[in-house]
Amino acid sequence: MSTKTIKPALSIQGCIQVPGDKSISHRALMLSSIANGDSVITGLSQSADVQSTINCLRALGIELEIDGNRAVVHGRGKLGYHKPSEVLNCGNSGTTMRLLAGLLAGQPFDAVLDGDESLRRRPMRRIIDPLEQMGATIESNDYKAPLKIRGGQLRAIDYATTIASAQVKSCVIFAGLYANGNTRVTERAPSRDHSERMLIEFGVKAQYSMGGAGVRGPAELQPCELDIPGDISAAAFFLIAATLLPDSKVELANVGVNPSRIGILDALATMGASVYKDEVQERNREPRTNLTSGYKKLKATTLGGSLIPKIIDELPILAVAATQTEGVTVIKDAEELRFKECDRLATMCKYLKKMGADIRENKDGCVIKGPTPLHGCTIDSLGDHRIAMSFAIAGLIADEKTVIKNSECIDVSFPGFFEVLEKSVVR
Ligand code: S3P
Repeated sequence: MSTKTIKPALSIQGCIQVPGDKSISHRALMLSSIANGDSVITGLSQSADVQSTINCLRALGIELEIDGNRAVVHGRGKLGYHKPSEVLNCGNSGTTMRLLAGLLAGQPFDAVLDGDESLRRRPMRRIIDPLEQMGATIESNDYKAPLKIRGGQLRAIDYATTIASAQVKSCVIFAGLYANGNTRVTERAPSRDHSERMLIEFGVKAQYSMGGAGVRGPAELQPCELDIPGDISAAAFFLIAATLLPDSKVELANVGVNPSRIGILDALATMGASVYKDEVQERNREPRTNLTSGYKKLKATTLGGSLIPKIIDELPILAVAATQTEGVTVIKDAEELRFKECDRLATMCKYLKKMGADIRENKDGCVIKGPTPLHGCTIDSLGDHRIAMSFAIAGLIADEKTVIKNSECIDVSFPGFFEVLEKSVVR
């Protein structure tokens, strides 16, 4: 277990390169692995989560050459996986487990997906139900991992998800590649649509709209070249650090600004932050741009409804921002936070309160009255990367040092985070 100490900072400055988008990286690797030939990926995330996907694909007989953030994936076609001789270890990565389950449902062999303690606690019924409706058989530990997936010939389905989840939507759409006919997913609120956009790059007839996606199976994937933009969920920590620290200015280069991911920019705009977007470029259907953020006094707002799936990964750092915001910030409709790498709602409330914030936990969110000074103290990340990074930023605006226990989990999405942070802060 490693521990990091964060000292208060005066400001944050400079040009910051964030890692390649983690969500897009998982999808790029998985879809390349079932394409008919070699795909080249640049800008790949070098995170532990993405490494879990690489490990699972290798265990399924896929050859990948990885050189830093560039990968060549030797796709073997939709049915080219080998039956794995071992359990597929998804580590801490929910995206690896849920998306790969969709592809495994179409294979003519059994495979077992497992993960670490945190992943074993996360709900899997959300993917088991639709995959079973499509014809797969899945054994689980009371709807949790390990999952034993017995694939086979699948049926196309129309599926209405009860929770807005891109992982569920992508899992069903991936399985739909193996089914005969149109598989469609409708969502109550739109979640990230990277899978649908990327499938079109691989030559698949996929449709997407705000709140729905569809694919016509059986589909063949043609290999392609993919360039992955920087991860807006990683950028969010620096956008907010600059907003909170006087005299700050940070530039974040080449950040993905897919409309289904920019809830953080919308939320910060409503709160009065000064975040500027450069000209937007689009590659592989994924828009990207440079973002600039500087110090600004924030005003309170309500974060809820259909915005939540678009800021689901940014809510912990938004809660930190809310402690410095004039007025009452309400976060609601966000019960999903309880089912992430840890119960992010309970953990944020517990430790922000410990730092001196005026915060009340509700079943589906919290209410934060600001601004309140934060006091450095000891935080346990509970092995959750976004909790650890959120409190690292909180530590910059606190009055004493902040100690973050279990800080190594940051590698799950942002290896090198502390080095980037320490290089950019002014004390
Ligand atoms: C992800 C979707 C989100 C997000 C996760 C990555 C993805 O989960 O929280 O970090 O890559 O599809 P849900 O779709 O389950 O909300």
